[in-house]
Amino acid sequence: MNSNFPTHRTDTDSSVNQKSFTGLIIREKEPENLEFPFSALSSSIVTNEQFFVRSHFPVPSANLNTWRLKIDGLVGKPCEFTYDALRQMPSRTVTMALECAGNSRIFLSPKVSGLQWELGAVGNAEWTGVSLTEILNRAGVKPEAVEVVLEGADIGEIKKEPVSPGKISYARSIPIAKALSPEVILAYQMNGEDITPAHGFPLRAIVPGWYGMASVKWLHRILLIDREFRGYFQTTDYTYWDRKDGLPIQLLPVGEIEVKAEIARPALYEVVPANSVYRMFGAAWTGESEIAKVEVSVDGAKTWETAQLLGDPVKYAWRLWEYHWRTPSQPGRHTVMARATDARGRTQPMERDTHRGTYIITHVQPIEVEIKAIRGGAPSDAYAI
Ligand code: MTE
Repeated sequence: MNSNFPTHRTDTDSSVNQKSFTGLIIREKEPENLEFPFSALSSSIVTNEQFFVRSHFPVPSANLNTWRLKIDGLVGKPCEFTYDALRQMPSRTVTMALECAGNSRIFLSPKVSGLQWELGAVGNAEWTGVSLTEILNRAGVKPEAVEVVLEGADIGEIKKEPVSPGKISYARSIPIAKALSPEVILAYQMNGEDITPAHGFPLRAIVPGWYGMASVKWLHRILLIDREFRGYFQTTDYTYWDRKDGLPIQLLPVGEIEVKAEIARPALYEVVPANSVYRMFGAAWTGESEIAKVEVSVDGAKTWETAQLLGDPVKYAWRLWEYHWRTPSQPGRHTVMARATDARGRTQPMERDTHRGTYIITHVQPIEVEIKAIRGGAPSDAYAI
């Protein structure tokens, strides 16, 4: 067998074992926006080299001798931290699925504007840093503070409509209640190594359970305010329509992640051996809950079978799953689907909710494959019956 060919047989090993596709897909050259080829999913943790990159502006440089994290606004004691001071504080490691709110946008029809991500604007990594609460406690949060604004050091101008008011920095806020939960960290390490420039060196926020836009990279300022933050990336961009305060529709900032499963294998238009058992696998994740089940349909959503969840649940991390599919004997195009349900009973919808605009793309994605009779037996993920 070709050694570059992925092997996913699980009769002896239930982990995912794949050696090919080590690169990234380019979605934009400048600033660099890179996608993880989701069909290359090979373990629960995505390596630093293969983790997708989403940046709006060029990567800012940082000199650790002069670099400071500043905290001001509604705090008793505005203060600054050096990089060394942060590294000496008690640390915490959080594993989390970080999904860009625009992940899967390419599947929207009619086409919408924005980066045309397929399935790989998502990853799962281990982040290490200082709990945001630790920093907030040292600065002393005033009772009137309701939101915590996280500002990155990256600056630029959005020239496409809707344009920005000249040069702006990237900033997002989280409510004070979320900011005070210990899992929100200011991370300096990713998968045990110092965070790379593309992922936010020297420091980034990690906001588990929220879409990726909340996890501000190149963090250099924390500001406490007594009202809703109305910055560009919270009002003009990264918003969606929803019902609020009894009104039928209101524009809200994108926040918590919604439940979603993705199929890594088979990949879109993959050739699948007829009359075999093929190991389908993928990952599923959700926001402030955990994955309760993943179901698979191989007959166009008429019936659903339960997939097996792999490993143990870890709050905020994704959960790998697998399903052994007895493939049809007839060659031709075939559609498979997966859908997840979380412990709160939320299940992915079949249809797109157009109120979500260009974000929060969680409706079930049909994956079309080509069933083919393969001479000499099944070569890869499948084994003959
Ligand atoms: N932080 C800053 N300062 N600038 C950015 O452009 N992009 C956000 C978020 N944090 C962004 C940022 C978005 S939209 C996402 S999805 C994540 O970073 C992506 O993180 P990654 O590049 O490490 O995958």
